[in-house]
Amino acid sequence: MADNYLEKRFEEVFGSGRKTTRTKTVWKEYSSLDTLLHHNRSHRSYDPSDVPSTEVLRKIVWVNTIIPSAANQQVLRFRTVSSPDETSKVLSDIKMGAALPELHLPVPGTEPPAYIIVMSSKPESRFVSIDLGISLQSMALRAVDLGYNALMICNFNPEKLKEDLSLPYLPLAVLAVGKGQDSIYIKPCNEGDSLKYYRKDGVHYVPKIILDDLLV
Ligand SMILES: Cc1cc2nc3c(=O)[nH]c(=O)nc-3n(C[C@H](O)[C@H](O)[C@H](O)COP(=O)(O)O)c2cc1C
Repeated sequence: MADNYLEKRFEEVFGSGRKTTRTKTVWKEYSSLDTLLHHNRSHRSYDPSDVPSTEVLRKIVWVNTIIPSAANQQVLRFRTVSSPDETSKVLSDIKMGAALPELHLPVPGTEPPAYIIVMSSKPESRFVSIDLGISLQSMALRAVDLGYNALMICNFNPEKLKEDLSLPYLPLAVLAVGKGQDSIYIKPCNEGDSLKYYRKDGVHYVPKIILDDLLV
């Protein structure tokens, strides 16, 4: 794959004139990966009319055929969900934006149009959890790469979701996928500051600890 693959892909999806991100940061120059990472914010409002096709959802899950896996065991399994009947079941089982309970997210009319349910075919363990994180982040970046957004969701009742969707395994995580509609900014902060995300004048702010405070 060419070194500038992501750069080219970004231009295809977002247009060559759009090199800056909506997310403020202390960095002045962006690589393609930085750009993807910046656009990969947790959206909790989506355009419900723009439903990712089965092909798009399969392209997102496809990343799992090439990513690292502990001892290469590849225990994760996936179910794509995009029919209104099933998305309404998932919506009733998940919680979005628990840190902002007064907003009751998602606002009606902005529900995620699709989901990818991640399960494990083997019992949970440290390695399964690490594989899960790698998988979720890889799929979220792929979603952004394809012009969509994603939200990782672990706040749900696994038994209920398993039953509602007749899943073969207990779900570990849910990835909401769609065209995100939130305006999100990263707010650099220091160790010890509040890390709670918040909204002001319709903008969603996400505090992120600066590099110097991460290095120990
Ligand atoms: C493992 C994991 C689980 C998460 N679960 C939820 C969730 O259940 N509901 C939700 O609204 N957001 C969830 N999030 C999103 C986080 O709240 C979000 O990553 C954080 O606020 C930082 O925002 P950012 O992703 O835009 O950087 C989860 C994120 C991760 C990594």
